[in-house]
Amino acid sequence: MTATRLPLFGQASSELIPAFVLPDRLIAPAFSTARGLLYETDCSNLLASLKDETVDTVFADPPFNLGKSYGNGAVNDNLEQHQYLNWSFSWLDECIRIVKPGGAIFVYILPQWGYHHAMHMEKRGLLFRHWIAVSMKGTFPRGRKLYPAHYALLYFTKGQPKTFNRVRVPIPACRHCGGDIKDYGGHRKYLNPLGLNLTDIWEDTAPARHQKFKARWHINELKPMIPSRCFEISTNVDDVVLDPFGGGGSSYHAAERLDRSWLGSEVTDCSHIPDRFAKHLPGSGKRQLPRHLLELFKNPDRKFRILSREQ
Ligand SMILES: C[S@@+](CC[C@H](N)C(=O)[O-])C[C@H]1O[C@@H](n2cnc3c(N)ncnc32)[C@H](O)[C@@H]1O
Repeated sequence: MTATRLPLFGQASSELIPAFVLPDRLIAPAFSTARGLLYETDCSNLLASLKDETVDTVFADPPFNLGKSYGNGAVNDNLEQHQYLNWSFSWLDECIRIVKPGGAIFVYILPQWGYHHAMHMEKRGLLFRHWIAVSMKGTFPRGRKLYPAHYALLYFTKGQPKTFNRVRVPIPACRHCGGDIKDYGGHRKYLNPLGLNLTDIWEDTAPARHQKFKARWHINELKPMIPSRCFEISTNVDDVVLDPFGGGGSSYHAAERLDRSWLGSEVTDCSHIPDRFAKHLPGSGKRQLPRHLLELFKNPDRKFRILSREQ
């Protein structure tokens, strides 16, 4: 373990702190497949190790600062507003740096934070595409407020999108009789048999609530459908996607299924992610390291180790 001497904020880099230093160490991937790499570390370590403009799409589902416990005490989910926003802007800036021109950033977030994140991305020159309302079920009204019924899924691109694939969803049908639940004003016969165009309101994506459907029973976990749609919209087969906040591994699962290459980090124990792959994508975790991803790293190491600054 080597000690590093760091410049203080506002000091010339020649003036170094003599005593208080953060240690660095090399960490190996916690899990890999033929197309994916996962690190058990703070996302800032993974992001810092990547070259500029190397990733096609970022999907991020960060902690919402609601005071949740994420397992090993590594996450303080109860920050002051300005601290939470500063932290959010720092990982967002890194995501903006590593995304390719025309690439996309999706952020799944509470509306109360989402408008700050959206403003920040616009200030950094990204192009606003959509504020997708993702239906939230099972909540209750709080105080003198309306019943919260959606999360924001922000969709920005670095300039005009290089990829935009239309995603289609099944024509809504009554679950009792199977008939249409909407009147298409005499135009039913013109509907595409492959389904309707996806809109910016997603109502079919409620979180996996039952333990048997979740990789980590105690943590919010998305249906893979949410990252899956983001990847389908903004990438093609073999493109590279990154999720800094792995959680139960929904986005890695989605990427693997869609034949996208993927990179990820999760700061708490992530042993449940290989278990999830073994259960749902058997055989995928047994391959060799994904050599094609090496070129995305600033300091390629044949073992895919990255420099981690311990927090
Ligand atoms: C809302 S959960 C993500 C859930 C995930 N999308 C899923 O569907 O399973 C947020 C995750 O980010 C992790 N996390 C928090 N801060 C982190 C950081 N600085 N670096 C990496 N992971 C972090 C938490 O431990 C938690 O598992």
